[in-house]
Amino acid sequence: MAEKILWTKSLSKHFGGLKAVDKVNIYVEKGDIFGLIGPNGAGKTTLQNCIAGTYPPTSGQVIYRGKDITGFKPHRVCRHGINRTYQIVRSFPRLSALQNVMVGGVFGARLSEKEARAKALKLLEFVEFPSDPEAKANSLNTMQLKRVEMAKALASGCKLLFLDEVAAGLTPGELVDIIALIRRIRDSGVTILIVEHLMKLIMEVCNRIAVLCFGELLIMDTPEVVTRDERVLKAYLGDGFQST
Ligand SMILES: Nc1ncnc2c1ncn2[C@@H]1O[C@H](COP(=O)(O)OP(=O)(O)OP(=O)(O)O)[C@@H](O)[C@H]1O
Ligand SMILES: [Mg+2]
Repeated sequence: MAEKILWTKSLSKHFGGLKAVDKVNIYVEKGDIFGLIGPNGAGKTTLQNCIAGTYPPTSGQVIYRGKDITGFKPHRVCRHGINRTYQIVRSFPRLSALQNVMVGGVFGARLSEKEARAKALKLLEFVEFPSDPEAKANSLNTMQLKRVEMAKALASGCKLLFLDEVAAGLTPGELVDIIALIRRIRDSGVTILIVEHLMKLIMEVCNRIAVLCFGELLIMDTPEVVTRDERVLKAYLGDGFQST
C-alpha cells in the first residue's frame, strides 16, 4: 500500500455551536490526485484551513508524513512541504510573472534570489506559461495567472499541493489544459488535493475522492464507487451532481 502522506484523525472545527468539520478521518496517499467535494457549506474550505494552519482545529490531529503537525502556523506547515493555491488568485499585480514565482522560492524554500530566479524560470516552463516571464501579473488572463499561481506554489518545493477551485472561470479548452497540468504536477512527484465544484474535472482527474456533508465525511473511495453511492446522490440532490 502507498504511504499515507496526509492523515486527519477525527479532525473537528467548531464555530460556536456550528460543527463546520466534525470528526473527519481522511487520508491522502502519496501520488494521489485526491478530490475533496461536497455541497456548499459542507466544510471543505474549513478542513483545508485546519490542515494548512489557517485555523487551529477544535480537536483531532493532522498527521503529515508520520509527523503530528496539528495547530502548526501556515508558514511552518509550508516549510514541512504543504502548499496551496487559492480560489481568488493572490498574485502581486505589479510584480512580473517571474517575480511572483520567485516569491515562492525565496519565502517558501529560503532560496537565494539567484537560485529562486533560476528555479522560477524552470517552473514557468514546466507549467507552460505562454508569455514573457517579465510580463506584469496585472496584464495576464485567468489561465495565465493560474499557471503562475501553480508555479509559485511549486517553487516552495512542496510535496503536497492543495488546489482550491482551479476550474473556476476557465473555458472548456482551458479545462483540458489544466487537467493535463494537474497530471503533470502529480507525475513530477507532488501529491495533489483538489477542492472543486466542477464534477467533470473531479471525476476525470481524481483517483480517490472524499465527500463531506454538513461537516461529516460521507464516503471516501474511488470515483466509480462515489458516484454510485446513494448517500452522495441524496446529498447532492438538486445540486447538479450528475450533470455538471
Ligand atoms: N470563520 C468562520 N466563522 C463562522 N462560521 C464559519 C467560518 N468559516 C466557515 N463557517 C461556516 O462553516 C460551514 C462550512 O463552511 P466552509 O466554507 O468550510 O464550506 P465549503 O464546503 O467550503 O463551502 P463552499 O462550497 O460554499 O465553498 C458553513 O456553515 C460556514 O458558514
Ligand atoms: Mg469553500
